[in-house]
Amino acid sequence: MRIISAIAGTGPALVAVLTIAPPLATTSTAYAAQAPDPAPYVAKARAAAKALATALKARLEQAISEGGAENAIRICNIEAPEIADAISADTGLSVGRTALKWRNPANRPNDWERAVLKRFEREKAAGADLKKLEHFAFLTEDGKPVFRYMKAIPTAEVCLACHGSDLAPELVEKLDKLYPQDRARGFKVGDLRGAFTITAPVPATP
Ligand code: HEC
Repeated sequence: MRIISAIAGTGPALVAVLTIAPPLATTSTAYAAQAPDPAPYVAKARAAAKALATALKARLEQAISEGGAENAIRICNIEAPEIADAISADTGLSVGRTALKWRNPANRPNDWERAVLKRFEREKAAGADLKKLEHFAFLTEDGKPVFRYMKAIPTAEVCLACHGSDLAPELVEKLDKLYPQDRARGFKVGDLRGAFTITAPVPATP
């Protein structure tokens, strides 16, 4: 995400980077050792997800009111990863966003995340309130014990300017340039847009 924010706006160079994004290396397996009490991990992850959601929504609304959706692209493109990085640095967690239908290939889900997103879709289809859907597990990722947390992100009215079906032509032009593989269009209010995804290290002796 850092690479992409650093070179955003450079046109063809960015396109090249996005197209050659390597496959995700992360592998998730079940946690071998006895898992610790999840409660403090869950509390920390919820707070981090909320901090990111609140900051993003406030910045988006402000930018849209100041200069429309085109002006606000930079919030999602540049500021979202920066805000996520700042919260990660503050909390010691790794905080990001992912989706089944992603815009930036850097946000592609790994296998575990994809399974959780599909589970959110099933729960929604069964009548669950997306605002309340979350999922967590202790896993081993790349050989290290981790706590993993995801929280569903519903599509709200304010999201449609950039993720809906009726996008302004100038906006489409910008998005096509920045995200040639964009799949994050055509959403309706109430759809599952994606999820916050959080990784916390699990110390050997808590
Ligand atoms: C001004 C345009 C704009 C608006 C409005 C907007 N987004 Fe986005 N969204 C983007 C862009 C651009 C990206 C790609 C960010 C990146 O490069 O990491 C993105 C990425 C995302 C992602 C990360 C997964 C992916 O597809 O890459 C999620 C989740 C997301 N948006 C949810 C939302 C939600 C929920 C709302 C409404 C509250 C919203 N967005 C409103 C432009 C927008």
